[in-house]
Amino acid sequence: MKESFTSVYEWALNVLEEPNPEKKVRLSIDTNTVGISLKYLSRRIAAPTRPARPNFPLLLQPRDMPRRSTGQKGRVAFVHALAHIELNAIDLAWDMILRFGPELENTTFIIDWIKVAKDEAQHFQLLSRRLIDFGQSYGDLPAHDGLWEAAMKTSHDVLDRLAVIPMMLEARGIDTTPAAVDRIKSSNDMKTALVLEEIYHDEIEHLRIGVFWFEHICNARELDPIATWRYLVGHHLNSKPKIPLNVEGRCQAHMSPEYWENWCK
Ligand SMILES: [Fe+2]
Ligand SMILES: [Fe+2]
Repeated sequence: MKESFTSVYEWALNVLEEPNPEKKVRLSIDTNTVGISLKYLSRRIAAPTRPARPNFPLLLQPRDMPRRSTGQKGRVAFVHALAHIELNAIDLAWDMILRFGPELENTTFIIDWIKVAKDEAQHFQLLSRRLIDFGQSYGDLPAHDGLWEAAMKTSHDVLDRLAVIPMMLEARGIDTTPAAVDRIKSSNDMKTALVLEEIYHDEIEHLRIGVFWFEHICNARELDPIATWRYLVGHHLNSKPKIPLNVEGRCQAHMSPEYWENWCK
């Protein structure tokens, strides 16, 4: 590791303020070689409300998104939508560090989310390369801003953020990915299926990290994690996890069935 002492919060801010997706990815993957200082974790730097983004893709309201086509065109739209989610996920991991790191002052918390940011950057790279294989690139299709809207709703408290982003929205991805992989395999696109399988395994680990910190902070605040999670999900999303759930994947991530049993129908 090079002798360099950029504070982890300065690094997080650099990534969030970088509009170019390729540079954002590079900054998130290069963390092993640049030397980020994990000292002075209580020193707060203001987090931007929104990360910097390229001019394209156009961001639309979810209801204004074009209907997804079938066949290869539909698959390209699906890969593009996933790439957009992954770009958001890079920023969400750095935002977690910058916004909530100072109050927790916990090195393991920071290291966990640096690892998540790096994985998300690799996911974006895999998907955007796949788009290039299809003769397209990230930004060619519109995308929606639902994920960052959920981030903004939960920017005031780390428990709200963990309950909604990893434990609800990322967990939803874990529920739906196995069927998406089967669908893509049945259209003989093994390369995309392999990419999704690789991402799936990392997302289980991200959910595990989310659940771990949610429960750790609930314990510190003497809150019941199950009741707190249900309250926060209902409050911010006005919804419950949609059946069928991927119980095996969720359990691998140490998300106990108690979270949803007798709650989701
Ligand atoms: Fe991801
Ligand atoms: Fe993730």
